[in-house]
Amino acid sequence: MDVLVAVGGAMVAGLALGAYAALVFGRRASPAARAGAASAGPLTAAVSGGLARRMIEVVRHGALVVDRSGEVVLANTAARSMGVVRGGRVSVPDLCAVADGARAAGEPRRLVVDLPGGRIGREPIAVVAHAAPLDEEGHVALLVEDVTESRRLEAVRRDFVGNVSHELKSPVAALRALAETLVLRAGNRPELAREYAARIAAEAERLSGLLADLLDLAAIESGRKEYHREPVEAADLLNQVVARYAARAEQKGTLLEWSAAPAVRAWADARSVEQTLSNLVDNAIKYSPAGARVTLHAEPGEDETVFTVADTGPGIPPAAVPRLFERFYRVDPGRSREEGGTGLGLAIAKHLVEAQGGRIWVDGTARSGTTIRFTAPTTSSQSLKIGVAS
Ligand SMILES: Nc1ncnc2c1ncn2[C@@H]1O[C@H](COP(=O)(O)OP(=O)(O)OP(=O)(O)O)[C@@H](O)[C@H]1O
Ligand SMILES: [Mg+2]
Repeated sequence: MDVLVAVGGAMVAGLALGAYAALVFGRRASPAARAGAASAGPLTAAVSGGLARRMIEVVRHGALVVDRSGEVVLANTAARSMGVVRGGRVSVPDLCAVADGARAAGEPRRLVVDLPGGRIGREPIAVVAHAAPLDEEGHVALLVEDVTESRRLEAVRRDFVGNVSHELKSPVAALRALAETLVLRAGNRPELAREYAARIAAEAERLSGLLADLLDLAAIESGRKEYHREPVEAADLLNQVVARYAARAEQKGTLLEWSAAPAVRAWADARSVEQTLSNLVDNAIKYSPAGARVTLHAEPGEDETVFTVADTGPGIPPAAVPRLFERFYRVDPGRSREEGGTGLGLAIAKHLVEAQGGRIWVDGTARSGTTIRFTAPTTSSQSLKIGVAS
């Protein structure tokens, strides 16, 4: 929340709470509070007191009023669940200090602080506290805003920008070096010019793949991607993906095949399921040695359709499994960069699957190789049951 909004909120709270303190505790309200009460019309003590209490409950953040002795005269549920009120007093020394500072200065104060310990059993809470004096009696309003999630998102965004820049650096540097060499050395040597031009094309291809993945991810994450869900035949999808990868598999000496239980259907966006299967098959071929076997399968699960892509390659080390679907995560960065991978394929697959109400996971029971499974609702009613709009 912006400081102005917070202070504005504190002022509104100040008017109501100043009046509340005066009416309930028999204390003198500040001129501002008296003006507020006057402009609000003839309120009875009970009504204005109740309104103040209800008003601070409406505030999404922790809201409390402390008196000069540090006693909490009013606190909403959010403040109590943050654990900042204990035994009728503010339990965090930094918050007491900011309230004292605002009282002494006669003007609002702001402080960013980590609440020690946080909610029971949880991470510490990062908060921004706004303190505003309410009256001459020394009452101070404290608004405590939990910024833990926005801080986390900010860190994710920073990481993301850092990762993207890092990923763009190497193909761009390679393009530049290749172009320079082409200009300097390939003058009247057409075979060298052809070789460099081919390498430039390959780097440009890699770059455009990365950009396409990033755009995909951005569209999915911002909710701009549209899903046209309809009944799809699992066998058709498996067949199409296998046909698309047949030449590449053959080139590498990989045996690629599919099977499906009879009449397996899913209620899904066909292109998204195809894209998910393609990302999995791409990995299975890419990371498995020549002579490996890659199998695709679809079968009905309990109340969903289960798709499986399994290979006989090196497998995923157990320690890497929890991070596998994170964007830019690679088990062996050197190896996958060699293969042109940027660590976005599985992150995209996870988004696509979950956006349609499914799950995706690494099957830890597979004895060797890698087996990844994902689900899709079998019918539109299941898709509605799990809370996904169709
Ligand atoms: N079938 C597999 N066998 C072995 N390792 C795998 C397999 N699938 C994925 N991995 C590992 O998981 C990492 C993440 O895979 P992901 O598909 O997200 O990224 P990528 O293949 O590196 O890049 P991209 O898919 O964006 O081209 C890979 O870098 C690889 O180390
Ligand atoms: Mg991949």
